[in-house]
Amino acid sequence: MCIGIFDSGVGGLTVWRELRRVMGGRFIYFGDTAHVPYGEKSPEQLMEYFWDIIDFFQQREVKAVVVACNTMSAVVLPKVQDQVPLKLFGMIDAAVDAAVKVSHGKVGVLATSSTAASGAYEEAFGRIRPTWDVTSQGCPRLVPLIEAGRTSGPEVEKAVAEYVKPLKNAAVDTIVLGCTHYPFVTSVIEHQVGSEIAIVDPAIRIGQEVSAWFGSKNEIRVEDRSSHTEFWVSRNPKGFQTLAQQFMGTMIPNVNLYEMAGEAE
Ligand code: DGL
Repeated sequence: MCIGIFDSGVGGLTVWRELRRVMGGRFIYFGDTAHVPYGEKSPEQLMEYFWDIIDFFQQREVKAVVVACNTMSAVVLPKVQDQVPLKLFGMIDAAVDAAVKVSHGKVGVLATSSTAASGAYEEAFGRIRPTWDVTSQGCPRLVPLIEAGRTSGPEVEKAVAEYVKPLKNAAVDTIVLGCTHYPFVTSVIEHQVGSEIAIVDPAIRIGQEVSAWFGSKNEIRVEDRSSHTEFWVSRNPKGFQTLAQQFMGTMIPNVNLYEMAGEAE
């Protein structure tokens, strides 16, 4: 069985890396580089991209899709869950599950503007920990910096300092990385918030969920870690390949171009 993974760009690679760590299999990674950053797109635009990507996966006989993007998981998934004939894994519940294991009730979420505005994290925490304080902070400058290959330096530090300030003021004990791009700047965040605040990367929880699901279907043998990934993007395959190799520290052999509906490079 083939597993689809998608994001607006390189962020979903933080989830892909974790999936490959815990399971083998055939993966197809799609980066919607024609539309990054998703965090600044309207719900209607995101919905359009979502269906185009689902269509892309269905043409390739993918049976399960990991929505390795918090923005899509927050804004689109709740509206379409029942309409997609594929098994879907989203980021929000996985992140909340991971956070409740470490937090004592004061959680900060760093996320894109769209995710923060959606209230998805407040709602998901509210369902299982109704008395907890949840503060979501939109971080519009981070994804463009990371997609430009910048994960350290004064500009990243300045942006992170600005975004973690309200969370520090709210005395959070835990920060959820509520965007799959942010694990690339974990060390900057850690440096700014100190060791007293726990940092949660939901990728680990998603890895457990996906591997457990495939294991229960007898679709994977846990001991077989051999895997193969096809990479696709909607714009600039070369740029994606260079950046992915830089971030993953591994060879990304071939990146293919899939033009989204009505668009050309
Ligand atoms: N990495 C995605 C997320 O988790 C999308 C970021 C963006 O394109 O703005 O939200």
